[in-house]
Amino acid sequence: MKIDVEKSLLWSAAGAFVFFAVGAVSTTIVPPMVDKSLWSSEQPVHEYTEQEMRGMEIYRREGCVYCHTQQIRHLDSDQRRYGWRLVKAPPSESWEYVNDRYHFIGTKRTGPDLGRVGGKYSSEWHYAHFKDPRNMGEKFPDRKGIYEKASIMPSFAYLSDEDIRDLTAYLQTLGRNKNWRVDENGKPLNDYEK
Ligand code: HEC
Repeated sequence: MKIDVEKSLLWSAAGAFVFFAVGAVSTTIVPPMVDKSLWSSEQPVHEYTEQEMRGMEIYRREGCVYCHTQQIRHLDSDQRRYGWRLVKAPPSESWEYVNDRYHFIGTKRTGPDLGRVGGKYSSEWHYAHFKDPRNMGEKFPDRKGIYEKASIMPSFAYLSDEDIRDLTAYLQTLGRNKNWRVDENGKPLNDYEK
């Protein structure tokens, strides 16, 4: 029996489904079955405290993920840009996310990646930045009180102090499952928060 495949809606639909299913199964179901490190970790991974969980909820609610990603890619530019005092940020690895209940890996970088922002700034810096990002710049004496190169992020001044504290506690955990800020002698360089 000769089947005219292009003209048969049923065969086209079945073919499309098979192709889709092969793609879906081989990219979503097979990888975690063959590579356990995608969903578990042999190293200790930070357990979020209640306060940090509240912060994570605020991060979700306020839509930070629409402007910020949380993934350092395998690109030299990413590693340099999100590094710290000339130490390059290591690319994000899947085991670092195993305790996350929301995943904010994201796709849109209107603002910088936050994958390794924990420990980059003090909590006071974050407080001031959320309250008035335009205040976080350099002041030039000849431009009477005007801040230049100030942060262009929207202000979150409407958040309560409590919310900002929770949000900051969460931010301070980001990217610290790996202790990567060490100098050449292995001495930790994290001087902001634990
Ligand atoms: C409309 C887009 C937008 C939203 C929404 C947004 N941000 Fe930002 N954010 C930015 C931009 C742009 C910058 C970079 C500012 C600059 O340096 O000029 C930034 C910078 C930052 C920085 C400093 C990062 C660094 O490495 O210097 C942090 C931390 C941050 N944002 C956290 C947050 C959090 C938390 C939220 C949610 C409460 C949030 N942002 C929501 C756009 C956004």
